Amino acid sequence: MNEMSTSSHAVELEATPVCARAPVGLLAELTHRCPLQCPYCSNPLELERVNTELSTEDWCRVMREAGELGVLQVHLSGGEPTARKDLEEIIKAAVDAGLYTNLITAGVLLNKGRLQGLADIGLDHVQLSIQDVDAENADRIAAYKGGAAKKHQVAGWVKDLGLALTINAPLHRQNIASLPKIIDYAVEVGAGRLEVAHIQYYAWALKNRAALMPTEEEFLDTARYVKAAQERLKGILVIDFVVPDYYAKYPKPCMGGWGRGIMNVTPSGRVLPCHAAESLPGLAFDNIKDKGLREIWLEGEAFNLYRGTDWMKEPCKSCPRKEIDFGGCRCQALAPSTMAASYNTWGTACSAAR
Ligand code: FES
Repeated sequence: MNEMSTSSHAVELEATPVCARAPVGLLAELTHRCPLQCPYCSNPLELERVNTELSTEDWCRVMREAGELGVLQVHLSGGEPTARKDLEEIIKAAVDAGLYTNLITAGVLLNKGRLQGLADIGLDHVQLSIQDVDAENADRIAAYKGGAAKKHQVAGWVKDLGLALTINAPLHRQNIASLPKIIDYAVEVGAGRLEVAHIQYYAWALKNRAALMPTEEEFLDTARYVKAAQERLKGILVIDFVVPDYYAKYPKPCMGGWGRGIMNVTPSGRVLPCHAAESLPGLAFDNIKDKGLREIWLEGEAFNLYRGTDWMKEPCKSCPRKEIDFGGCRCQALAPSTMAASYNTWGTACSAAR
């Protein structure tokens, strides 16, 4: 998310300087239902039930309010957003509100006719997740037989329909050796962008960390390989590389900084500063059924808790990087201290902020 694009389109908001602009993106978790069971995704014990999901009318209102607030992009996510039968109506509302629409999907529930219909409504972009290029391993990780083959087919449809395509490849110990082939795959299917995303160790991924976390040397190999591929594929494929904070030199400005660029609406309407914010103990979240998106963005307690730098304690408070990384990912920094004991040096240094 870049600040240039935000400032040129944002509506004027009277507020403190750190939120005196609109969020760039809205992550709309339309449902937590998903046919896949990836071991690094949301905690399956805490998923929101189908009978608590927002209605079509509520989601359409969220899209309208997002457009009025000045949001630029909506990421339609889940769970699996295509599990919603009213996806078409929600996308139509987003398009009418002037939002750039990105469908974040596992692809396995789609057929070409439905995708064609979504494109006709005005869908701009599809972000397709893959678990591996080795179909057997991919289906094992997702616990979904035939998933890898279907995803390959969906990637072809996306290109046939002229939609922009991003391949999202969560990386961990169970597929890390496939990185070179994953990059080749993204080129082969004609993606414009590949997100090589080392999984982030909070929530369910933290619980499964022993099976998922690569060694530091394995991680460094991926960093070197991606850097070389970024050079080699300039003009062909953009590769974004997301590192796990465990092996990062510095913490990253997660979500571009807490409460600075992203709003996340859960299936039942809770509005979060990031998708994992519910893993932080003791936070209360506003619901879109009770308050408008604009009020929540400007005045919501959860959005203001770690917004900017005023909340910081030493040593973060006097750190020269405090307005670069904004204290890093709150959800990883505040993961249980027993787990945090194995963080590298920045994790220890940032313990004052916990
Ligand atoms: Fe919550 Fe990083 S995922 S701040």
